[in-house]
Amino acid sequence: MGLRVIKVGNYQELSDMAAQFVKSQVLLQPRSVLGLATGMTPLGLYQRLVEMHRQDGLSFRETVAYNLDEFLGVSPDNPVSYYNYMWTNFFGHIDIPEENAHIPPCNPADAHAAARDYEQQVVQTGVNLQVLGIGANGHIGFNEPADQLMEETHVTDLKEETIESNRKLLAQTAGGDNYHIPQRALTMGMGTILKADRILLLANGAGKKSIVGRMLTENINTHLPATFLKVHRDVTVLLDEEAAPDWL
Ligand code: GLP
Repeated sequence: MGLRVIKVGNYQELSDMAAQFVKSQVLLQPRSVLGLATGMTPLGLYQRLVEMHRQDGLSFRETVAYNLDEFLGVSPDNPVSYYNYMWTNFFGHIDIPEENAHIPPCNPADAHAAARDYEQQVVQTGVNLQVLGIGANGHIGFNEPADQLMEETHVTDLKEETIESNRKLLAQTAGGDNYHIPQRALTMGMGTILKADRILLLANGAGKKSIVGRMLTENINTHLPATFLKVHRDVTVLLDEEAAPDWL
């Protein structure tokens, strides 16, 4: 147990394997609670799961999902929102009941109260399998590198590099490059994430190679939040060839 690393040839294989992982979780335990991530990385995973739903009848009728994070200060139908991302790329194409698909609110009256509320819900329900990506700066969800990390779901100011990579992501997923990217977000904390029973971290592409290498070799430190995954008892790091350090 602990942290295991699996290297596959390319993004297609990574997406297939990740989908098999999620599929077996949902088949073995139909009432599974999935923790879900956004970004470019899991798009292939969601696409494969949608295919499995359509072609093989894989059902999410009893599945519950909690997303990791959401921007603050946008409306749900804004292409920038993770609400829009999740419904466009995944929830809208499977049979998960709407009330089971939880995403932190993007426009709450009181963001701090909303964070406390989300934390309570996630922790009370308990996540069975948490899917994660990794930011190029080592962030997990929106837990940005800092002198201190937060344990629970909280409001956070995004780093400039994160705002920039989100702009690029939106240009690719929603088209256009003129989006106003919010500077604040609501995210599960490192403690919230580490409470999941199992964690599956995905990384692909040459742009992730250096941060993946650092995550695997550096001691646990708050300036590379992903290093905290090393304290968890069941983490699978799934890499494609390009994202894998040379020594692997
Ligand atoms: C984003 C999200 C993370 C995601 C990460 C990597 O900012 N908040 O949940 O895992 O950055 O994104 P990508 O998969 O596009 O590289």
